[in-house]
Amino acid sequence: MGALTYFDFLAKFGVGGAHPGGIILTKELLANEKITNQSHILDAGCGTGQTAAFLAQQYQANVTGVEINPIMIEKAKNRFETMKLPVQLIQGSVEEIPSAANSFDFVLSESVLAFVNKPKTLKEFYRVLKKGGRFIANEMTINQKLSMQEEQEIKQFYALDSLLLEEDWKELLEKTGYKNIEVKKQKQSLAEGNHAPEFNFSANFEPELFAIFNMHANMVLKYQDILSYRIITCTK
Ligand SMILES: C[S@@+](CC[C@H](N)C(=O)[O-])C[C@H]1O[C@@H](n2cnc3c(N)ncnc32)[C@H](O)[C@@H]1O
Repeated sequence: MGALTYFDFLAKFGVGGAHPGGIILTKELLANEKITNQSHILDAGCGTGQTAAFLAQQYQANVTGVEINPIMIEKAKNRFETMKLPVQLIQGSVEEIPSAANSFDFVLSESVLAFVNKPKTLKEFYRVLKKGGRFIANEMTINQKLSMQEEQEIKQFYALDSLLLEEDWKELLEKTGYKNIEVKKQKQSLAEGNHAPEFNFSANFEPELFAIFNMHANMVLKYQDILSYRIITCTK
């Protein structure tokens, strides 16, 4: 087995709402959108399925989750079965979504896009969105340019191919064809954390994952003025 990663920690600890602001911020963002029981929603990189379950329960919407990690998939599946929610779960990559073009009214990406090939995935989201459909994301963003060394440290720990500034996100979204682009900074910083943490631990996990948890916490503290996130909303 290769070296353990930040995603191994998230999957084996079963972290739900694994994005800045957690499910509390998710609910706030969704309340601003016109979601109904007719809406078709893709939760891209759904993790253990906390947001997908909320969408199915609160709005009775038609929800699909795509997730690449088999442990996450298993935990999401258990959640939907336990809650008796008809969420469709697809194991696959957000970079190549096995859904037809123009399928979804909403695509959600809560701390997923930052970790994948961004131009490719944004094109995929655009393809599967219906005309007039909304893309909503909560993504890692840097507040200022970094030194080479700082950039390397963050990219290596989170296995990122790039770190974007607010203006980089805007440019990329425009280039892909999205309209009504808004990229907003939140009052709460990354270091202020997620006030509704949820865990679903695997029966067995490597104790080294605690060290990864600590490294993540230290990274957030060390770069608290630089490493941040933005709420992205736009329309196809
Ligand atoms: C930081 S977590 C966020 C999970 C979830 N959206 C949430 O807010 O709790 C990122 C998730 O993206 C998933 N992921 C990473 N790369 C992916 C890919 N190429 N396709 C699908 N999911 C991916 C990871 O397995 C992980 O579950």
